[in-house]
Amino acid sequence: MRCQSTDPRLDNLSRNAADGRQAADVTALSPAPTLTRMTPQPNPEAGAAVKAADRDHVFHSWSAQDLIDPLAVAGAQGSYFWDYDGRRYLDFSSGLVYTNIGYQHPEVVAAIQEQAARMTTFAPAFAIEARSEAARLIAERTPGDLDKIFFTNGGADAVEHAIRMARLHTGRPKVLSAYRSYHGGTQQAVNITGDPRRWASDSGTAGVVHFWAPYLYRSRFYAETEEQECARALEHLETTIAFEGPSTVAAIILETIPGTAGIMVPPPGYLAGVRELCDKYGIVFVLDEVMAGFGRTGEWFAADLFDVTPDLLTFAKGVNSGYVPLGGVAISGAIAETFGKRPYPGGLTYSGHPLACAAAVATINVMAAEGVVENAARLGASVVGPELRALAERHPSVGEVRGVGMFWALELVRNRETREPLVPYNAAGEANAPMAAFAAAAKAGGLWPFVNMNRTHVVPPCTISEAELKEGLAVLDAALSVADEHVE
Ligand SMILES: Cc1ncc(COP(=O)(O)O)c(C=O)c1O
Repeated sequence: MRCQSTDPRLDNLSRNAADGRQAADVTALSPAPTLTRMTPQPNPEAGAAVKAADRDHVFHSWSAQDLIDPLAVAGAQGSYFWDYDGRRYLDFSSGLVYTNIGYQHPEVVAAIQEQAARMTTFAPAFAIEARSEAARLIAERTPGDLDKIFFTNGGADAVEHAIRMARLHTGRPKVLSAYRSYHGGTQQAVNITGDPRRWASDSGTAGVVHFWAPYLYRSRFYAETEEQECARALEHLETTIAFEGPSTVAAIILETIPGTAGIMVPPPGYLAGVRELCDKYGIVFVLDEVMAGFGRTGEWFAADLFDVTPDLLTFAKGVNSGYVPLGGVAISGAIAETFGKRPYPGGLTYSGHPLACAAAVATINVMAAEGVVENAARLGASVVGPELRALAERHPSVGEVRGVGMFWALELVRNRETREPLVPYNAAGEANAPMAAFAAAAKAGGLWPFVNMNRTHVVPPCTISEAELKEGLAVLDAALSVADEHVE
């Protein structure tokens, strides 16, 4: 039966933790790395100048420009950053979930400096040491035969190119993607996205059809167990393919574990079931690991948790912890062959930029040498999971705890019985006040939280220490008391 797991590693995944399940321990392969802490030096005048120039000239992403108040940041080290007033924050958001090795890792900084001295840049048509080595190290870690790497500048353009490859490989136009997903801000990627960030740019003509992926806590399938959720989600997907016309579908794209949309760890068997459907109908299976990849889940790639190999895998963020912008697509043998004799019609001036690739080489080597992936797995199972479950018991605003590795979500609710979210879907302004108050309380306590809609995610650097985690979880505990005030 597809929707039941026989893989013991899946027992390490935690879903529906509020219902009392426990994650199994993962044995540490090496101790958590320690990072030097720097003492912030206050300099409010410099901070005011930085802020003034920002407000005058920087146009910020996803924002009404007059309604934002960006914090001026003076520096960062390891799991912390600080402002110009000397206030230090423990970063439970890893920037935008990308500083998997923390800030300013000295070996990666040195590698970038060394590459800058040797060869700052070189055009993509040439074979360059840093580029070749980054591709080799990535291909060595990606599952199955994903052995060719096309480098991009970030995650959205990786998704754009994966979809282009799938369409050219199959000769078909359509892409199926999930509601409750994020795939990037460029035109095709945002149309594939299944959250409100798509709406303003939805052309309605992008060749994208959305479907529902599994999410037992808010099941679209009236399911009561993970097995039901899995089986019904697969049936829904197959019906969607049938009614769209299988011969029109080029690709199914999924985040292996949806990130910003809520860290919904798929039930055992779901991704294997999608793989089967793709094989049955000749559809390219794309896994988007821009957020979940490079250690975040306690594996190099989240696909490893499910023993699934896609045809294309997109990555960015953790590949070099965002020290220099880099993303890419890992490509299967069959799709690479399509472009063996026929040119691939796509490229970027900075594809495989030497500085970004040198940062990736150093990052991957540091992660391997310091056991960063193992640290994420071990502390996720032994500290974050159990402590978040304990928080859920104390705080009535916590509806569900779910996650794995350094990739966890707390779903905050007004009412645990009805599961009514603490704030409505896509709430803004006054309607979002309870989540804003929760975030403000966390920041006042020195913790920078990741907040999206009615959720807070615990997504610190994968290098974080146990002591740092406990410090952050204590602040989270206090901030949840603010959320509790809005429970019915
Ligand atoms: C799963 C996923 N795909 C794609 C992207 C887009 O990446 P970028 O912002 O680097 O373009 C993101 C960004 O958060 C993401 O989480």
